[in-house]
Amino acid sequence: MKKIGVITTGGDAPGMNAAIRAVVRCALHHKVEIVGIRRGWKGLLEEDIVSLNTLSVSGIINCGGTILHSVRTPEFKEREIQKKAVEILKKNKIEGLIVIGGDGSLQAARNLSKRWKFPTVCIPATIDNDIGGCDFSIGFDTAVNTALEAIDRIRDTAFSHERVFVVEVMGRGAGHLALEVGIAGGADIIIIPEIKCDIDKICKKIKAGHKRGKPSWIVVVAEACNGVEIAEKIRKETNLEVRVSILGHIQRGGSPSALSRVLASKLGVAAVEALLKGEYSKMVGIVNGKLKVSDIDYVLKNRKKIDIELYRIAEIIS
Ligand code: F6P
Repeated sequence: MKKIGVITTGGDAPGMNAAIRAVVRCALHHKVEIVGIRRGWKGLLEEDIVSLNTLSVSGIINCGGTILHSVRTPEFKEREIQKKAVEILKKNKIEGLIVIGGDGSLQAARNLSKRWKFPTVCIPATIDNDIGGCDFSIGFDTAVNTALEAIDRIRDTAFSHERVFVVEVMGRGAGHLALEVGIAGGADIIIIPEIKCDIDKICKKIKAGHKRGKPSWIVVVAEACNGVEIAEKIRKETNLEVRVSILGHIQRGGSPSALSRVLASKLGVAAVEALLKGEYSKMVGIVNGKLKVSDIDYVLKNRKKIDIELYRIAEIIS
């Protein structure tokens, strides 16, 4: 290959810039020209393509977000739009594409490569950590640490005012972020969509604790389980003072952690080298500490499952 492209699509994740940097530098190392597609699939359809070099990615490893910008493009599911995108890539002499993003990005990359035979290799990047074929996606560790810092602060107020604090964390339909943050933050209760929530049992536990003199509670709730509704039920049932804190997009931004940066650097290099070896329609990930190149269809069919053992641990120690 003489020329390849890199694109970030879907929700941003801390570490995307470190991945772009690694992709660009690895391509140049192998004497391959590299361009960046700005503003996701929308930008590709508008031919918003820029040339990248070592300097264009210098000083970005510590920055959150993505220098290429990102857009959610649900219309990219349409065949005609995908066809147009491939025509634009070919017209610009781009022979392969590194796609950095989450579930939706993988699906789009899969369609380009399987349906339209355009070479793509994906790098998993989402704070949700809901992608199969990898232990962790880029950004997850940073988001966990960001949410953790918030919970540590909330804990002070929860204790001082003897309140129940319901903290809602992101994760779309998955509870990975909530489970990890809940354990690290010493949450008393963790509510995730993968495990049936018995709200009566939870309220009984809170009431019993209150009787014993437990002053405050931290309840971590995955966004799919709705923190506001959970808080309302706890308030009604226990008569305690309850507050809700929805952490929201705070978890998506910020300087990536060392783990997110190192992971992004490894996967950036691995993705370019996979593409240059002719491994199309693939995703690179680290599984049990080792690099794994998986077929995108396999990854899409095997969404990451929640770690039941981790949930069991949380139940024992909370
Ligand atoms: O996929 C990442 C994520 O932050 C989810 O956790 C969340 O549900 C969603 O994106 C929010 O998307 P948007 O930024 O488009 O509102």
